[in-house]
Amino acid sequence: MKSSEPVIAIRNVTKRFDAVVALDDVSIDVAPGEFHAIVGENGAGKSTLMKILAGVITDYDGRYMLRGKAVRFTGTRDAERDGVAIIHQELNLVEQLSAAANMYLGRELRTPWGLLDNRAMEASAAALLEQLECHVDPRAPASSLRVGDQQLVEIAKALSLDSNILIMDEPTSALTETEVARLFRVVERLRRQDVTILYISHKMDEVFQLADRITVLRDGRMVDSLVRADTTPREITHLMVGRDIEDARIGEGHSRKDVVLEVERLSLPWSGHARQWRLRDVSFKLHAGEIVGIAGLMGAGRTELLESLFGASAERPTGEVRLHGKPVAFRHPAEAMAAGIALVTEDRKRLGLFSHLNVRENITTCTLSRATSAKLIRRPRENDLAREIIDQLRVKASGPEAAITSLSGGNQQKTIIGRWLLTRPDVLLLDDPTRGVDVGAKAELYRLMDELCRAGLAILVTSSELPELLTVSDRILVLCEGRLTGEFTRAEATEQKIMEAATRRELVA
Ligand SMILES: Nc1ncnc2c1ncn2[C@@H]1O[C@H](COP(=O)(O)OP(=O)(O)OP(=O)(O)O)[C@@H](O)[C@H]1O
Ligand SMILES: [Mg+2]
Repeated sequence: MKSSEPVIAIRNVTKRFDAVVALDDVSIDVAPGEFHAIVGENGAGKSTLMKILAGVITDYDGRYMLRGKAVRFTGTRDAERDGVAIIHQELNLVEQLSAAANMYLGRELRTPWGLLDNRAMEASAAALLEQLECHVDPRAPASSLRVGDQQLVEIAKALSLDSNILIMDEPTSALTETEVARLFRVVERLRRQDVTILYISHKMDEVFQLADRITVLRDGRMVDSLVRADTTPREITHLMVGRDIEDARIGEGHSRKDVVLEVERLSLPWSGHARQWRLRDVSFKLHAGEIVGIAGLMGAGRTELLESLFGASAERPTGEVRLHGKPVAFRHPAEAMAAGIALVTEDRKRLGLFSHLNVRENITTCTLSRATSAKLIRRPRENDLAREIIDQLRVKASGPEAAITSLSGGNQQKTIIGRWLLTRPDVLLLDDPTRGVDVGAKAELYRLMDELCRAGLAILVTSSELPELLTVSDRILVLCEGRLTGEFTRAEATEQKIMEAATRRELVA
């Protein structure tokens, strides 16, 4: 441990959002060059604290000392000038702009004649993305990038600011194993350059692999700040939730029933791409009362598979899909919904949340018919439905009327899952449902999936975390470059076998 003056010292910081106390008298020291992990349940106040450090939130009580001097940022530009950059939990790219334009937004490079120097911006964006081993075209619009790539663009943007304090708010939540490994290589390089890193994660293995020090927040309070070498994941989890979490072991004794969904030689074209197919000849059956996991690396086609089953893919898939024995070809998600299929998407900001609506409206938006009589929305009924979900999933919100944007990231995710549960689907498609969800709530979601499955629902789930898939799935299908390259029962499946199937390129060629 380095024992010099703290580079960041927070003293008695309190932040209220109306009635909600997001941070309550928090004091923390961060040593120069250290990797400091911040952990805590959904809604504990982690992002709020980071936003104060990075000048996003400027209105708070308490003191913030940066390199020994009291600072009061008036915005992120201020913080960036002082070498503090943040990579936000919710991706913040401007969809219409290219990756390069996003990286230089507000500080565009110009030619000596004052014109936008796109060439220079693209070249330096390309070099930074190269460092991250990220192969997206810097000219591609952000909207064309998958979440994982968008996140890398955000990281590249922070790197381009030459910050010596880097705040990462759940940077790996949308990345697959290989990308996480790639990010960690970048992190190691930054550490050698004495960059101080503040890092939020719900993944305990990451925290223990990387951190010098771990600070735990609970309900807006600083519970403890521990040297990594002196603590254990168990102790940290306990500090986070105030109780022990049992290891989730579900699925023992699921009894699968009739086939609900049959997929035969499903293919999804990929216009203008060398690979031609996002999905190629994918065939499998899904039974009522079983949970089937879909494993695969980034780009393997997991999301595309779920989207094409939901009538939400950009191009029309070919092949045959039968629901309860009847051929179906959904042209629109509304048709899939009406037939009893629900999809919880991985990219909640773009596809899932209605940010102008409140929590109640976000939960009931797909189920209004159940709360409607004589074409009028019965507010009390809608409120009951929303409350049911808020209680069942333990959504931390000040109430059904709270703005959805006022919820912490993990709680927004629970809201969307709740919305789809209310539609009482036969087939539930979950695309990385626990992304950004804390340990306690994860266990809660696993339990819920288990319950739903026992009640006869068929669940198809993807995850960027293999251990999670192994925990929840009765069966695991493995995709590699759009093709099915493996299938394992719960008893057969191991991380090793799945990774082998997921990288089995020779079978694909
Ligand atoms: N803009 C806002 N308006 C009202 N309340 C807010 C706002 N931002 C955060 N909050 C509330 O402050 C509390 C802390 O939220 P914060 O986003 O800091 O949690 P977090 O620890 O980052 O959680 P997660 O792990 O889910 O991302 C939550 O109760 C949240 O609802
Ligand atoms: Mg957060």
